[in-house]
Amino acid sequence: MIKRKQILKIAIDSPAAAGAGTLAKAISKHYNLFYLDTGKIYRFIAYLKIKFPKKFNNKFIKSKIKSLKIKDLENNSLLSDEVGTQASIISKIKSIRKVVHSFQLNFAYNPPKKYKGSCLDGRDITYNIVPDADFKFYITANVKTRALRRYKELKKFKKKISYQEVLKSIKKRDKSDINREISPLKKTKDSLLINTTNLNKRSCFLKIKKIIDRKINI
Ligand code: C5P
Repeated sequence: MIKRKQILKIAIDSPAAAGAGTLAKAISKHYNLFYLDTGKIYRFIAYLKIKFPKKFNNKFIKSKIKSLKIKDLENNSLLSDEVGTQASIISKIKSIRKVVHSFQLNFAYNPPKKYKGSCLDGRDITYNIVPDADFKFYITANVKTRALRRYKELKKFKKKISYQEVLKSIKKRDKSDINREISPLKKTKDSLLINTTNLNKRSCFLKIKKIIDRKINI
């Protein structure tokens, strides 16, 4: 893989529903960066497991990832709580992480030419996927706020789910993502902490923008 030099790389890690996706999208748009929500790749694989349980093996996953287009990740079926829970289970598997790893690297270091760089968000981006990122952020919020945000999101898609169920599932996912052996969710020392509990989207965006502009002098 040929790496494009002099591109701006932003790496973000965060627990579920902390607002990282919304922020990463806004930042990417502002700085003309290619945005990749890496959770969607794990969700896509989890969806395959649910849809094709008998075919679900390494060869099958590899071939599906090989033909995976960014557009496929926009499928609303990937947003359900069931897919999210299943994603946190399959993401513990070493061979699956390996396949996803190479897919991510390509976009992080070699984004489509029209972009000035890349912005990836996930669980292991700051220390595993883009350890040399120009900016690293750990975006979080308290668990009740995150559950409420996710609950409202799921309601938009008319999902039959209660707030208590969402809270329980987010707590379970946090536990699994933080305590797993391979590539657990953690805040690295060189990541800047952004707590979105009491900040609206605009304030979070401006906070991050200020940090970036100070360094790149735009
Ligand atoms: O970000 P999202 O909630 O969509 O991610 C779904 C799941 O995928 C997470 O709970 C986590 O287990 C897994 N994931 C991961 N590494 C990433 C991104 C997501 O293990 N970089």
